[in-house]
Amino acid sequence: MVSSKVPQVKLGSQGLVVSAQGLGCMGMSAHYGPAKPEAEMIDLIHQAIDSGITFLDTSDFYGPHTNEILIGKALKGGYREKVQIATKFGVRLMDGKPPEVCGDPDYVREACEASLKRLDIDYIDLLYAHRIDTRIPIEITMEALKKLVEEGKVKYIGLSEACAETIRRAHAVFPITAIQHEWSLWSRDLEDDIAPTCRELGIGIVPYSPLGRGFLAGGPTLVESLPEGDTRKEYPRFKNVEHNKTVFERVNEMAAKKGCTAAQLALAWVHHQGSDVVPIPGTTKLKNLKQNIEALFVKLTPAEMAELESYASSDVVKGDRHVYMQRTWLNSSTPPLSSWKGKVN
Ligand code: ATR
Repeated sequence: MVSSKVPQVKLGSQGLVVSAQGLGCMGMSAHYGPAKPEAEMIDLIHQAIDSGITFLDTSDFYGPHTNEILIGKALKGGYREKVQIATKFGVRLMDGKPPEVCGDPDYVREACEASLKRLDIDYIDLLYAHRIDTRIPIEITMEALKKLVEEGKVKYIGLSEACAETIRRAHAVFPITAIQHEWSLWSRDLEDDIAPTCRELGIGIVPYSPLGRGFLAGGPTLVESLPEGDTRKEYPRFKNVEHNKTVFERVNEMAAKKGCTAAQLALAWVHHQGSDVVPIPGTTKLKNLKQNIEALFVKLTPAEMAELESYASSDVVKGDRHVYMQRTWLNSSTPPLSSWKGKVN
């Protein structure tokens, strides 16, 4: 356990209170190499909760499904009452077909009920649309989510990787509590209009991959050590490691001068974006969990923030921030409500 106290903060303006830093659980079960040993991960989740990290992030897509089952097991023994569970729906898996982004109302309900079963809980604290279905007006998806809140199955609603216009339209149907979006020193596109829209509407921001999927913490050493099946091998920025390693080296040098680690410096930069911002660094290691919690207490001056930003500016970094950028959610707006004919064409 870590001695420093993790503060609780308001996320958005609908009443949700979470720890100022969350725990990204994806890598425990999927995407970042083989699934990690279950007992170890449950212990890690317990250590996080006992240290004050109460905001756990998962999705039905992680595994698929196995990450929610893992979290469900970790919540046994009195942990449920201590945490806020955030999960996601919206990447639909069908036999023999590639996964599709789906915001269909019937599917929203089906997915939510399946998540509740896997997590073995009565309600989900925060349910996000994992990706935006660009075939269905967002109002239609939101009406389905609103019903789930009215029935008590879900407390709060969020969207992930939505554009500003979609956020605004969704919020007009039912108040959005949080937007999850990639945000780190080297992924700052949401600062243009997504973050300002959230702030105008009183919506909290949950940055995922605040450590650049680990690159800002481990640089080329991490890339060289990625195991078979680690999806990061396919990410453009990881493929451009020779070019991008300078970003890590500079962050690392500055961290050494400040007496912290590169991971802590990168994470502290995200924490300095405001009290409405609650990052969810992912880790599978107790040592890293402890470091990340301590990053809450690393103080940066405006000059240090600017220095860090200069190391990772968009003209310095090579490669898209995501492997599926063009195919799915680069421009995640939805058709107008007036065009909806009751089903996907
Ligand atoms: P994501 O949201 O996609 O999980 P992230 O939070 O930016 O991405 O980074 C997660 C990666 O950073 C993981 O590879 C994690 O590795 P471990 O599971 O081995 O911890 C790594 N990571 C997290 N915290 C770290 C730290 N303090 N030092 C070094 N690496 C860290």
